[in-house]
Amino acid sequence: MRPEDLPRFRQSPTDPAFVQDPNPTYARMRALGPAVFWEDYGHAVFTRHAQVSALLRDRRFGREVTHLASREALGWDPIPDRLAPFHAVEAHSLLEREPPAHTRLRRLVNRAFTSRAIAGLAPRIEAEARRLVDAMPAGPDAPFDLVPAFAEPLPMAVIAHMLGAPEAEGPRMLAWSHDMVGMYQAGRTREDEDRAAAAAAAFADWMRALIARRRAAPGGALIDALIAAEDDAANGGGRLSEDELVSTCILLLNAGHEATAHALGNAVHLALTGRLDPAVFANPASDAAAETAADETLRFDAPLHMFTRFALGEPAGGDATVGEGAEAVTFRLGETIGLLLGSANRDAEAFPDPDRLDPARANAARHVSFGAGIHFCVGAPLARMELRIGLRVLFAQRPGLCLAAPATYRDAYHFHGLEALRVTG
Ligand code: HEM
Repeated sequence: MRPEDLPRFRQSPTDPAFVQDPNPTYARMRALGPAVFWEDYGHAVFTRHAQVSALLRDRRFGREVTHLASREALGWDPIPDRLAPFHAVEAHSLLEREPPAHTRLRRLVNRAFTSRAIAGLAPRIEAEARRLVDAMPAGPDAPFDLVPAFAEPLPMAVIAHMLGAPEAEGPRMLAWSHDMVGMYQAGRTREDEDRAAAAAAAFADWMRALIARRRAAPGGALIDALIAAEDDAANGGGRLSEDELVSTCILLLNAGHEATAHALGNAVHLALTGRLDPAVFANPASDAAAETAADETLRFDAPLHMFTRFALGEPAGGDATVGEGAEAVTFRLGETIGLLLGSANRDAEAFPDPDRLDPARANAARHVSFGAGIHFCVGAPLARMELRIGLRVLFAQRPGLCLAAPATYRDAYHFHGLEALRVTG
């Protein structure tokens, strides 16, 4: 069958009840079969763990298709001039490329994300978490929002330090990043688009200036390694162009804090609403238990709910069929599929009693919140460590932390993070 012949499903991604808790909708989608045609998006979405996990690894689908066919041949509208600055940044980023370009870029970035390099960041994360906690208002009469006080600045400081971007510029980078991700949210307006384009242009200019400064006076950070790769003519197929360098640094800064900030906020929220005992993070000697608990929060309340792929076909340029027999669906070159990470994480076939948060769940790390396959999150080990250390420091320093007001999720599907987390303690 064709995607339009799948069971049709209507659900506005901006419906407040859905934004606050999409899980009942996901359960209804999963009950209809491995995929449904989500009318509001106009494409098929896969909802069960087995298919989502397999399709993330399936090379007949990818993040980019314009390397195989032009926009015109695909019947797509040209990119409007006003959005060109956004696409200029995005088009060269690792996340939006497929092999061989992806392989080359990813290899360069991977070099900086060795387990040794990540482990070496632990003292930095701990110190930054302590500094932020020390600066928070204290006591039952001083409510404050934990998102800007802790969940956002912690991962931003860590990735800025790792990349070699001035940490004092954190608030500016956060503002650009927020505006840029507005482009990916459901129900985006013309205003969101203009803001995203302006932010991309400003961020790219700023990044070019930073690169010029670091080129003149290199240090030992990730940006210096990437610049060296760009400059290294002897590096054969491993070179980065200036545009790729700019895009990759921006991607690292954005991806390096957005989802982690949501993950930290969601995990604290789960603890403050009595669903997770913070004691699991308390013992620095028990990293394994804390990591399992952190993974379980990522499974239970994933920060990013949907990633898409274009059908690339097999052989490249042809159709791609998914499933067998009566369930087989054929996708033509360039057609979009959605992979519902948040739904796959609540599939009872993969996780027994999926709607229960079990901090000791044996297979918690099987969640797909970090994706899978060639685009699997580069920063997963770093994000896990930030969650483990950040939550330990927060709960140890502020044992009396409690909710000062009910928290709500931001109306920005597919992102699933809190608008605000008002607490006292
Ligand atoms: C809890 C926090 C995080 C979550 C849930 C998360 C989730 C994801 C997911 C789902 C993808 C794959 C998207 C796809 O397949 O289309 C991804 C890719 C990526 N993530 Fe993360 N991420 C997190 C933290 C980080 C951090 C801390 C960094 C950087 C330091 C980072 C950098 C990246 C990059 C560069 C990619 C693109 C990889 C590629 O295309 O090969 N992420 N992330």
